[in-house]
Amino acid sequence: MKSIVDVLPKKIKDISSDVDNCNYFLTHKHSLITENAKDIGKVSPVNLISDVITSPPYLNGTNYFRNTKLELWFLKHIKTEMDLRYFRDKALTSGINDVKREYGLLPNKTQSQLLKQTLQELEQRSYDSRIPLMVKCYFQEMYNFFQGLTIHLRQEANILIDIGDSIFSNVHIPTDLILAETIDVLGYALNERIVLRNRTSRNGQTISQVLLKFTYSKR
Ligand SMILES: C[S@@+](CC[C@H](N)C(=O)[O-])C[C@H]1O[C@@H](n2cnc3c(N)ncnc32)[C@H](O)[C@@H]1O
Repeated sequence: MKSIVDVLPKKIKDISSDVDNCNYFLTHKHSLITENAKDIGKVSPVNLISDVITSPPYLNGTNYFRNTKLELWFLKHIKTEMDLRYFRDKALTSGINDVKREYGLLPNKTQSQLLKQTLQELEQRSYDSRIPLMVKCYFQEMYNFFQGLTIHLRQEANILIDIGDSIFSNVHIPTDLILAETIDVLGYALNERIVLRNRTSRNGQTISQVLLKFTYSKR
């Protein structure tokens, strides 16, 4: 087994040489619209966007901020593990520990039949009442994000979404199909669904990572 001291200096050298030898250059300047996706609808549009590529949080409880705490610390965004709370509070809901009781009071703005069926099944079979609440909140936040995004989009913009489905309490949650149904009413028409990877979950069901391709037209 190798220690980090053996591996890291060489890796850093490799990365630095890759950066030095990269011939690619951008023809346009890039700019940050907002650091929090939840605020996308509150920011005035500057240039309209023709193409969006996004990999939103998966509905599987991944704690993205804990997983990247080393990078956050290195970039001086956090000093101690306690500071992770700040980011957790801003994150899109994707895990059971993100769920707050008041989510139960949220109005369900989404019109997805598939979501309604999935929530009913979860309410009957979940071992923890926070699970259906988490699922409801996830799609509500996704709806809000894609609604906010519309003010920044050109007519006929291409939207590519990388997403995976999940299983909670043996209930399959077809995240990609629910998402497609949820944002259809906002003007996002699904053109293609490409399966990127399949894997077998602990209960033997197949879950997938897929790429969804949409075209946006103003409603
Ligand atoms: C499936 S991962 C995609 C990672 C990305 N493709 C990358 O290579 O860095 C989902 C990402 O969404 C980020 N995220 C969660 N809540 C967010 C928010 N409110 N605003 C912006 N990003 C958020 C997570 O930190 C995580 O990096």
